Amino acid sequence: ASNARFFVGGNWKCNGTHASVEKLVQELNAGSVPSDIDVVVAPPFIFLDMVRLSLKNEYQVAAQNCWVKSDGAFTGEISAEMLMDTLVPWVITGHSERRSLCGESSKFVGEKTGHALDVGLKVIACVGETLDQRNSGSLWYTLDSQMQALFPNVKDWSRVVIAYEPVWAIGTGQVATPEQAQEVHAYLRTVLANKLGEETAASVRIIYGGSVNDGNCNELATMPDIDGFLVGGASLKAPSFLQICNSVA
Ligand code: G3P
Repeated sequence: ASNARFFVGGNWKCNGTHASVEKLVQELNAGSVPSDIDVVVAPPFIFLDMVRLSLKNEYQVAAQNCWVKSDGAFTGEISAEMLMDTLVPWVITGHSERRSLCGESSKFVGEKTGHALDVGLKVIACVGETLDQRNSGSLWYTLDSQMQALFPNVKDWSRVVIAYEPVWAIGTGQVATPEQAQEVHAYLRTVLANKLGEETAASVRIIYGGSVNDGNCNELATMPDIDGFLVGGASLKAPSFLQICNSVA
């Protein structure tokens, strides 16, 4: 179990127009979230600074990705240093869409996570298995190897949030049951404890992502090792997202 501060992330993925983003920001600003939790939204890069400047300070922002190295000849990339310079505090690494669609390996995700932390960012590092991996009995192996790739790169775990996102639950409406999520979160915490000790493991937030909505968040939030959520689709609807933020157990 953990003693960590509840964390809710909203991953807007590759969605939005200037008009829809302005509307979402206005609606979030009109709502309120508990003062003792972290709420972090991740807009597409092109809206990131505009959202950072217009959201009220109950909310923080994250980038959905960054480059693995410092500035240089990397056409089309955004560096962690640029995020720091733009006062963006958080970045998501290792999202399953980047692993599967952009070919990011666990090794690459580990290096990127380490670089982002080294330049001063806080990181939401994602892990999760496909349905095939779960069904073929390689669930624990998959999660362990994704976690092991982080350890050599992460010196400061106080700036890392682990997001467990089972690929089969992302955008499918097929949410993991509270028991399924708890089982994996407890396992991930054991992996952390084996490397870092019980005390550090209990302080790292392990959040769940995959079809979280305002109807299923309360039950998930009661699980002892679920320290929050990473929300996709439902984070684009302010009333749902605000309700999820208020589901803190
Ligand atoms: O990063 C959040 C995400 O992958 C979950 O997406 O739409 O299933 O909530 P969704």
